[in-house]
Amino acid sequence: MSIEKKEFKPLIVAFCCNWCSYAGADLAGTSRLAYPAEIKIIRVPCSCRVNPMFVLRAFQRGADGVIIAGCHPGDCHYTSGNYFARRRMTMLFSMLDFFGIERERTRVDWVSAAEGVKFSTVMNDFSKKIHELGENRRLGDLRCKQTIDR
Ligand code: FES
Repeated sequence: MSIEKKEFKPLIVAFCCNWCSYAGADLAGTSRLAYPAEIKIIRVPCSCRVNPMFVLRAFQRGADGVIIAGCHPGDCHYTSGNYFARRRMTMLFSMLDFFGIERERTRVDWVSAAEGVKFSTVMNDFSKKIHELGENRRLGDLRCKQTIDR
């Protein structure tokens, strides 16, 4: 009997604000800068649209890492949305231990529309970190895991 060892392919969710980070991802793409295919981008109008429950729900649905990317502080198209996002995520991240999730599985970063290189670098770094941490098993809902094609 042989035991097959499957290669770990993480599922990483990236919430990107429409005005800066999503445009940064676009620029990375048009500049032919590589970032891992395992990063699934969800476009949001502003980083403050990301409710902390979205992050927990992503982990519950099988994500191994969640990153939130928005405009640089002071550049938010809705004036102060990214300050709210930063504050909310700081609170959430401080409670992740309580939920049994490693803090390193989450990240908030600022990427402007002109920073395709930064987008690619941030995503590659984050993906590398998630590969080091391995699969997230703690908060995963087994019913959801079975439906995800890894
Ligand atoms: Fe980009 Fe608010 S519009 S963070």
